[in-house]
Amino acid sequence: MLSPQLIDEKEHNPLILIVDDIEAHAELMEAFLIREGYNVQATTNAQEAIRFTKNLSPDLAILDVMMPGMNGYDLCKNLKSLSGRKFFPIILLTGLDQLENKITGIEAGADDFFSKPFNSIELTTKIRSLIKLKRLQDELDHSEDIILTLAVAIEAKDPYTKGHSERVSNLSKKLAIFIGLSQAESITIKKAATLHDIGKIGLKEDILHKRGPLQKSELELIRRHPIIGEDICKPLHSLKQILPGIRYHHERWDGRGYPDRLKSEDIPIIARIISVIDSFDVIVSERPYRRSYSINAAINLMNTEKSSGQWDPWLVEKFITMIENDPLIHKGE
Ligand SMILES: [Fe+2]
Repeated sequence: MLSPQLIDEKEHNPLILIVDDIEAHAELMEAFLIREGYNVQATTNAQEAIRFTKNLSPDLAILDVMMPGMNGYDLCKNLKSLSGRKFFPIILLTGLDQLENKITGIEAGADDFFSKPFNSIELTTKIRSLIKLKRLQDELDHSEDIILTLAVAIEAKDPYTKGHSERVSNLSKKLAIFIGLSQAESITIKKAATLHDIGKIGLKEDILHKRGPLQKSELELIRRHPIIGEDICKPLHSLKQILPGIRYHHERWDGRGYPDRLKSEDIPIIARIISVIDSFDVIVSERPYRRSYSINAAINLMNTEKSSGQWDPWLVEKFITMIENDPLIHKGE
């Protein structure tokens, strides 16, 4: 843990991690960066660098490439995977100015390279811009976290929807992978599924759970939630790719859905997936007006209804195959 004083200093002076197996080089770089106003943690040892990254969360790392044991490329990969989805800028310092070394560095996730001896003005300019980028990225992540937390908090208030978005997001991701979409696409779909109903934020529970038929004005209010959800997430650049999943998750394969009455393959795959999984979760969940279906009964129902025009029939078939072959899903009556 950082001491309160170090946290305070880190707010103003970013912390840079230096890793160089030659102690004199590490010290030289350390002295240079301290003069530039940075906090510095230097080490000659890759394992210690990993420990520092875990414990101190530096804002940027400068790694020497040629080191005994774990070289700079492998250390770079390690540190990048430690930082998960958070942006952690890494600069590689190399005596090798050849193209293939740069390619290896890019493959390891490095953000920039400097050949020794480096130009100090160029290096500090690059450090400043990477740290600025990191700060912006952290702020964006923070805003995204707030929206995701909000989505879970809204549905947690209601016993009928509690856990719905988490279940829909996990199954949507599974189905995305099952039909052969990439890992990156499946992560986008998971995020979209978490937020698909965030537009219900302003809707009163008595409308959402009304037992009798809805009045026209109430129906119109409910049918606005995909557009409201899209409006909530639109300002965040990092959520741009999930917007079609939110806006179109109530479109129908036969074109009778809302809000845009898109039809068949005009409906983006991200929304078609959420639509199938959303329906499945509603069927197997209890509602104020009916008891829940068992998973087997839900599968039978969707199988019978797969060509009813609500969903992409091919996708429903894939979904049923996936569920039927999933040992983790209990299908008992
Ligand atoms: Fe919805």
